Amino acid sequence: MLDRREFVALAVGGVTTACASLVTVPVQPREGNLRLILSEWPNLTRPGGTARLRVGGTDTQIYVLAMDDGTYSAVSPICTHQGCTVEFAPDRLSCPCHGSEYDRTGAVLRGPTRAPLDRFVTRLTADNVLIIELGA
Ligand code: FES
Repeated sequence: MLDRREFVALAVGGVTTACASLVTVPVQPREGNLRLILSEWPNLTRPGGTARLRVGGTDTQIYVLAMDDGTYSAVSPICTHQGCTVEFAPDRLSCPCHGSEYDRTGAVLRGPTRAPLDRFVTRLTADNVLIIELGA
């Protein structure tokens, strides 16, 4: 039997997990990178998981996607056709403006766009910290 405090903690944790892909979370860059301690991002610990980030102090958004092979993809959500914001779909990213579609790495699946989403280099450390390199 859960006491009230345990129940509230579980409920908040569940809501955080369920909403993780819907909320844009600001993350402060450090030395030109974003560092996500994956134990704090449960939605990214399963294949198909997603997160929306905003680089702290900027308007730059990044979508992070957990791939089936245990790697991560990090892309700009700005459609390369005319600049609308793409949305998560189950196995792809879709643009609501004119229908362009991208796979989970940002590669074009369907036009009118011809260019992939801007991508960010990612790497996973041995202690499960996901590094997203912001570039110059
Ligand atoms: Fe995305 Fe046109 S802006 S398809």
